[in-house]
Amino acid sequence: MRVGVAREIKTDEYRVALTPAGARELVQHGHDVLVETTAGDGSSFPDADYERVGARVVSADDVWEQSELLLKVKEPVEPEYGRLREGLVLFTYLHIAADEPLTRALADSGIAAVAYETVETDDRRLPLLAPMSEIAGRLAAQAGAYFLEKPLGGRGLLLGGVPGVAPGHVTVIGGGIVGYNSAIIALGLGAQVTILERSIDRMRHLDEILSGRVSLVMSSSLQVEESVAEADLVIGAVLIPGARAPKLVTRPMLADMKRGAVIVDVAIDQGGCFETSRPTTHTNPVYEVDGVTHYCVANMPGGVPITSTLALTNATLPYVEAIADHGLEQAVARDPALGRGVNVLDGKITYEAVAEAHGLEYTPLDDLLPLAPVREV
Ligand SMILES: NC(=O)c1ccc[n+]([C@@H]2O[C@H](COP(=O)([O-])OP(=O)(O)OC[C@H]3O[C@@H](n4cnc5c(N)ncnc54)[C@H](O)[C@@H]3O)[C@@H](O)[C@H]2O)c1
Repeated sequence: MRVGVAREIKTDEYRVALTPAGARELVQHGHDVLVETTAGDGSSFPDADYERVGARVVSADDVWEQSELLLKVKEPVEPEYGRLREGLVLFTYLHIAADEPLTRALADSGIAAVAYETVETDDRRLPLLAPMSEIAGRLAAQAGAYFLEKPLGGRGLLLGGVPGVAPGHVTVIGGGIVGYNSAIIALGLGAQVTILERSIDRMRHLDEILSGRVSLVMSSSLQVEESVAEADLVIGAVLIPGARAPKLVTRPMLADMKRGAVIVDVAIDQGGCFETSRPTTHTNPVYEVDGVTHYCVANMPGGVPITSTLALTNATLPYVEAIADHGLEQAVARDPALGRGVNVLDGKITYEAVAEAHGLEYTPLDDLLPLAPVREV
């Protein structure tokens, strides 16, 4: 298969969807790998590294027009909409439940759009979201601690305190992968951490692995209100897979927060879980509402592209190989987890939560791809 790797053109996005090591694996499987020129520069992979492993370095037009499977990191942005076309399989983060224009552009183009973030195993893990969630979670605590500094608009509080001075309070809403990773970094900084979760099983697990070092509390609107009011830093880390994030912190709740407190809304890529959140970029990461600093960078891992590119491609490569080796239809028939990643196919919305979010018709994937059991040869 001709597998293309497009350069990311979204603001402050420096990741690339395939490393030279990944390109070499695909070349060894007999695939033709096209990499857009300078696509890897931001992650410290120059064109020569790809050429050395047998990939071809080509222009943006060539990579979009000639590829059968196109790998990206972020969703196509408006200048790329005109490049979407029938016959192309696009494999990337999409997050289209929060993006109606892109949903329509994908459906209108006839492209097959497979979203990293909705690839989901039978035991409900999200293997292609997990590595970025680990990174975003760790960065959330780091960024929050930084923006608590007075000259940056914060309260002027050191999260860890010092001997004789109490540490700051961090409230994490959602104890999944982002939540757990932000909690361990906040703990490492010496903060006092509370995680609000609504899954008791998840809280039992967190209790075991964190050995009681954090407070684990059932999430309810009253509890959110109380915990947010006493926090110096609030990290939003909830997820309802494929759907828009619920707005758990309303604007009136900000009035009860400490002046100069910081909100890091990691769930912003799903619309955000604070009523007052709107997406920001690494160049302008924060803004203030009612005396509370909001950090809402939609592509946090993009700020640490060397780590993120390696972590992402470690996770995506087996799925890329499956699509390239077998074609999308057979790859999906072999692996239902990949099937759950297909959001748009043949002009139809094949992911229920996305269709629901935009009031569009939902077509189950099985109606479009007859998923006959594969006979091993
Ligand atoms: N901004 C970024 O750069 C970036 C990067 C990675 C992930 N994310 C986003 O971060 C969010 C979290 O991702 P994740 O991988 O940790 O997901 P996850 O599924 O591992 O965890 C989400 C957790 O939220 C909990 N939850 C759901 N509703 C809740 C509620 N009302 N109150 C409390 N908890 C609730 C779930 O039980 C689950 O444990 C997602 O929206 C994801 O897209 C953003």
